[in-house]
Amino acid sequence: MRIGILNSGGDCPGLNAVIHGVVGAAAQLGCEVIGFRDGFEGMLPPGDYVILRPQDTIGILKLGGTILGSTNKGHFGAKIEKGEVSEVPSDIIAKAKKTMDSLGIGALIIVGGDGSLTTGLQLFRNGWPIIGVPKTIDNDLSATAFTFGFDSAVSTVVDALDRLHTTGESHKRVMVLEVMGRHAGWIALWGGIAGGSHVILIPEIPFSFEKIAAFIKRREAQGYHSTLVVVAEGALMPEGEMVTLGTSGEGEIRLGGIGERVALRIQEATGKDTRACTLGHLQRGGSPTALDRILGMRFGVMAVRLAVDGNFGRMVSYQAYHVDSVPIEEAVHQLRLVSPESELVVAAKAVGICFGD
Ligand code: F6P
Repeated sequence: MRIGILNSGGDCPGLNAVIHGVVGAAAQLGCEVIGFRDGFEGMLPPGDYVILRPQDTIGILKLGGTILGSTNKGHFGAKIEKGEVSEVPSDIIAKAKKTMDSLGIGALIIVGGDGSLTTGLQLFRNGWPIIGVPKTIDNDLSATAFTFGFDSAVSTVVDALDRLHTTGESHKRVMVLEVMGRHAGWIALWGGIAGGSHVILIPEIPFSFEKIAAFIKRREAQGYHSTLVVVAEGALMPEGEMVTLGTSGEGEIRLGGIGERVALRIQEATGKDTRACTLGHLQRGGSPTALDRILGMRFGVMAVRLAVDGNFGRMVSYQAYHVDSVPIEEAVHQLRLVSPESELVVAAKAVGICFGD
């Protein structure tokens, strides 16, 4: 059997671990792997691909990014923004199908987020042998408890908070760190708790500056003169505004800028010197953590098993310490958000973390 694999959408640490898992498992089963370059774009005639043998993947487990490259949207963009779905044109699908057929690909593994898996679902409904592998640092895909890349992003947040902590203490400042995550607060929540943040602001919990200022003033009165604040890029300002940086070349809303806005308002409300820092794409780059390497590898192995068993239209999923799979259609178009009543939020509140609510 010939198995195709491509990485689509934004990159994240652990993509190479998936490739490592796919190539290793495929070789054991006597299958050949074709890696398409730059996502779906590599499938357009004449085809931009490479044969991947185990010896071609030596040392990639520890590498960030993807050896295959990726494309955000391109000719195959299926989803523009929350809830708004646009289909891939049929002539583009037909062209890519020619490449599939000429290479004799019997299964295509798509490693991508919600948008890329939506494209995968469309292709599956057109009769393609599709298998999905969920990927995003945001950890916001339903039907999987974790996506690889998330743990690495959280580690980067923790490292940044450790650094902001010492400079904040030296200058008795409020330090605000803006982190990624789009419309979900997972990165802010996990990174904030692990990094010792005192205030965590996420899209799922409306906040007010009065509450945050009162909390900071209480800390002052108790003798704590520095406060660490983590704000998710998708958190809404109390007036309901989502802070954006316009749209990307692909027409998608770019979130960002809330860190500076929050810092300004906290300074106004408390009179304390406040600084903001935006972590940005540092969260997407660099080596994957051990956990993401292992999760990525396991996802790759499961994807090959699904391919060999002819179990198409399914997405690899992680649930309760176990890697399994679910129908792709159950996994897309539904964000997995932080529940304000979840045990994690309750625990964070129990140790005194303020969510501004
Ligand atoms: O979905 C992953 C993510 O890193 C989000 O957290 C962030 O909002 C977005 O992608 C940034 O996308 P881009 O790389 O296109 O700026």
